[in-house]
Amino acid sequence: MIRVTDIAYVRFRAPDLDQMETFLGEFGMVRAERRDERLYMRGTDARPFVHVTEKGEPAFLGIAFQAENLDDLARLAAEEKVAVEDHDAPGGGKVVRLRDPDGFLVEVVAGETLPAALSTLRHPVLNDGEHRRRAGAPQRLDAGPSQVKRLGHCVINVTDFRKSEAWYKNRFGLVTSDEIELAPDMPLGAFMRCDRGPIHVDHHTLFLVGTGQPGFNHAAFEVANFDDLMAGHDHLAKAGRRHEWGVGRHLLGSQIFDYWRDPWGNTVEHWTDGDLFNNETPPNKAGLAELMAAQWGPDAPPTMGA
Ligand SMILES: [Fe+2]
Repeated sequence: MIRVTDIAYVRFRAPDLDQMETFLGEFGMVRAERRDERLYMRGTDARPFVHVTEKGEPAFLGIAFQAENLDDLARLAAEEKVAVEDHDAPGGGKVVRLRDPDGFLVEVVAGETLPAALSTLRHPVLNDGEHRRRAGAPQRLDAGPSQVKRLGHCVINVTDFRKSEAWYKNRFGLVTSDEIELAPDMPLGAFMRCDRGPIHVDHHTLFLVGTGQPGFNHAAFEVANFDDLMAGHDHLAKAGRRHEWGVGRHLLGSQIFDYWRDPWGNTVEHWTDGDLFNNETPPNKAGLAELMAAQWGPDAPPTMGA
């Protein structure tokens, strides 16, 4: 087993790369590269890309994790009896390609050449009732798309939760933050995070939901901050994009969230201000009501997650 350090990107197929690029631009990503009928989009963090689209029939193809180093990648490949391949993508490096129990592609990457981070705008200091830190300066924000920083997590609907959970945990060292139970000892799924020991990481990197019907649920991208998320909401609304759920604040993970649909109906989320856990945070159990609860914001629509 290796311990992956983060999620790296999500991979889709769609028939029109121009349409996908326009949407993702409005969503707040920037083109990293377009080659061989593949569109690679990046965020502002120093990562080669966070979203890939291959030209073809619309589909969710899979996810990729980041390995800590090339040694870990070699160890994983040896355990799985597969090759470490050269990664023909922006940033290069090496990749190991696996199939999860439902047949989704799971890539693990390491050794990429990292690009420089992109500079970000609109990082306002906020005044609140207790802390009046922005004195003598007005608050001014530019209209425009959110600034997607990075990919934070992916949610996948699976045939058999326990089977998929074991597959991912045994290979990648993921640990449970919250397991969701429909009733005592009737698990629906779990929010799982990377195990980086004492280093604090996102509340979840992967959420597997045992719906019995395998498929893509959503992918979630961290944006610069709350104002950035709201500015991006306006931008997507004015562009006539399809809104799914939000703006609100989740209970489990605590993120401020806003869900949208891409032109082929894939759900993509903007989030900011999520919980950070480490190896001192024990696993928790929660029910369906807590899963769908918002601390503030609208109720989830019935289409969420489908
Ligand atoms: Fe999410």
